Amino acid sequence: MKITVIIPAAGMSTRFNGSGTDADLLGMGRSKLDEDLGGKTVLQRTIELFNTHEDVGQIIVAGPYDPEAMASFKLRHGDRLNLLGAELVVGGRDHRWQSVQAAIQSVKDEATHIAIHDAARPATPPELIDRVFDAAARFDAVIPVIPVSDTLKRVSPETIDDQSEADPLAAILGAGESNPMHEVVGGIDRTDVVMVQTPQVFKNDLLMRAYQQEDLTSTDDAGLVERLGERVVTVAGDERNMKLTRPGDLPVLRAIMKVHAPKARASHKKF
Ligand code: CTP
Ligand code: MG
Repeated sequence: MKITVIIPAAGMSTRFNGSGTDADLLGMGRSKLDEDLGGKTVLQRTIELFNTHEDVGQIIVAGPYDPEAMASFKLRHGDRLNLLGAELVVGGRDHRWQSVQAAIQSVKDEATHIAIHDAARPATPPELIDRVFDAAARFDAVIPVIPVSDTLKRVSPETIDDQSEADPLAAILGAGESNPMHEVVGGIDRTDVVMVQTPQVFKNDLLMRAYQQEDLTSTDDAGLVERLGERVVTVAGDERNMKLTRPGDLPVLRAIMKVHAPKARASHKKF
C-alpha cells in the first residue's frame, strides 16, 4: 500500500473559541490547532502520527481558505510542515468536504489509498491507525467507530419558551440560548448506532469517484462513498482518539497524551 494522508485543517474553531465574538464573526478566532501539547502544536502532533509510517508516501494539509488567514497559518506552521515533509494546500471556506475536495487535486497518482484524518485529532493511538490501514488492504472503504454509551433521544427542533427562567438582561444581550430546552419526541435504539472517527481510508479511485458526485454535502468522507452505493466497513475505534472541539477537550487531550499545560512564566523570572 502507498497511502496519501489528507489532513483537513481549514476550520474556524468556532466551538473552541465560543461563538458570537467579533473575532469569531470575522473568522479571526484563535485556531485550536495552535494549542500547545507538550511543546508542540496540535497540528504538529497530528502530522507526526503519520509522517514516519511505512505505508505513508505523502501528507497533504488543507489550510485556511482566506488569504490573510492562510498567510498567518504559514507563518505559524509552514517551517514545521516543511520539516515533516507535509504539503500545504488552500482548504475550503465553509465545509470540511470542500477542504478534502481541494486536497484531492494534489494526491500523487502512485497512491493506492487515501486516508483522511482530522487535524483536530492529535491523540490517535498508533494501533488504531494500523487497524484501519490493515483493514484497508482488504476492503475499499474503512472507518473507525466507537459504540454509543449514553441513551439517545430525539427532541423537538424548536425550543420551549420558559418564561419563568427569562432573564431580561440576557434577552437584551441576546444570550438567552445558553440553556435551550426542548421537548422529547422519541427514543433512538442505540444498539446498532455508532460514533464515527477518523482516519477514514479509501482506495484511491473509489474516493475520487465519490468526490466527482454532484451533491458533496457531508460531514465525513464515508458518507459520500455510501451515496455511491458502495460498501463501507467499520473497525473498532478508540475513546482516546478524541477530536479537539470545545475548550474543555484540551485538558482531557493533555491527560490522554500525558503532557502538561505550558507553564506561565512567573513574573519575577520574566527578564
Ligand atoms: N475543517 C476543514 N475545512 C473546513 C471546516 C473544517 O478543513 N471548512 C477541518 C477542521 O480544521 C478540523 C476538521 O475539519 O481539523 C474537523 O472539523 P471541526 O472539528 O468541526 O473543526 P472546526 O470546523 O474548526 O470547528 P467548528 O466546527 O467548531 O468551527
Ligand atoms: Mg466544523
